[in-house]
Amino acid sequence: MIVLGIESSCDETAASIVKDGYNVLSNVIYSQADLHAQYGGVIPEVAARLHLSKIKHTVQKAVQEASLNFSQIDGIAVTETPGLLPALLVGTSFSKGLANTLEIPLVGVNHIISHIYSSFLGDNFKVLADSNSFPILSLVVSGGHTLLVLIDEQFHCKIIGRTIDDAAGEAYDKAAKLLGLSYPGGPEIDKMAKLGNGKAVSFPRALTGRSGKNQNEHKFNFSFSGVKTSLFYHLKKSPLQNQQDLNDNAASFQEAVVDVLVEKAFLAVEEYDCKTITVSGGVACNSRLKERLQETAEIKNTKLLISEPKYCTDNAAMIAGLGFHLLSSNKNGKNLSIIPRFQYNDEHSFS
Ligand code: KG4
Ligand code: ZN
Repeated sequence: MIVLGIESSCDETAASIVKDGYNVLSNVIYSQADLHAQYGGVIPEVAARLHLSKIKHTVQKAVQEASLNFSQIDGIAVTETPGLLPALLVGTSFSKGLANTLEIPLVGVNHIISHIYSSFLGDNFKVLADSNSFPILSLVVSGGHTLLVLIDEQFHCKIIGRTIDDAAGEAYDKAAKLLGLSYPGGPEIDKMAKLGNGKAVSFPRALTGRSGKNQNEHKFNFSFSGVKTSLFYHLKKSPLQNQQDLNDNAASFQEAVVDVLVEKAFLAVEEYDCKTITVSGGVACNSRLKERLQETAEIKNTKLLISEPKYCTDNAAMIAGLGFHLLSSNKNGKNLSIIPRFQYNDEHSFS
């Protein structure tokens, strides 16, 4: 089945053609990040206008790069929720029009679940067919979300932990701003941290055993606003003197965030006896996070799947991949009543 995926929930206009849920034939991403950089973040109205100006060309390019024509597409999957409403509206409206014209089914896809699905694109698709892979623990670390999700053999997804304030990527972006680095800050901090000492400054590890506040209620939850505030006060007290100072602050901040992510993820792996752990979302590109996850997964004998960098940040291959399952299960059929939504439930399914 050939599925066209369309993504416009934030600052990437993306379209992709995926065959049978795993074989990515094209993956076109037009990023608005440079344009939003001047404001230090994404402005929904500006994002929507940019999506509108790029979406037709992006979709045409995805079909062309897959060496197909529109008549060969079997269905369309589009991000329905969550995201910036004006931005989502562009993708969903365009998709409705196209599905109607081509007379093919359309499904609305949850952006977060599709981030999880990005770990199963390509060869990793096999993992889903192997009952020994389950249960799966999925860590989603993006600019807007930090979640721990449990997936059972029926592909039923249950959110067991989330951030109670800032998302991990958001914390990176805010910390980068405090350090005078540009948006998006994650890759910048990652780069500087490689040359810094992660033990130079002691930042808090909120809601972990170490903080003494790992009560059951927040066992699998995260909190990243404290580490950012702590960096703010540290910089007030000890302003950056030179590049090494900057590197050390970046490395120490990163170490605190990564420590918490790895600790909580493996706490959940242990508690639910998970056989596989997947990691997706923009922060999954982080080199230190990957290193620490690999070390720990080896020790704990857990299969680790980290999404490929091109599928970590927002893309439409993950939308088309997940859309394949929804279209195949035929639950949604021809659904032209998709309405972008802010809200989503704690329980979901791939199919
Ligand atoms: O998944 P994504 O596109 O965002 C949402 O859908 O919400 O990820 C963007 C986020 C940004 O916050 C960016 O700073 C972060 O991912 N990011 C990174 C790295 N690359 C991107 N954070 C840490 N290290 C990186 N190498
Ligand atoms: Zn995303």
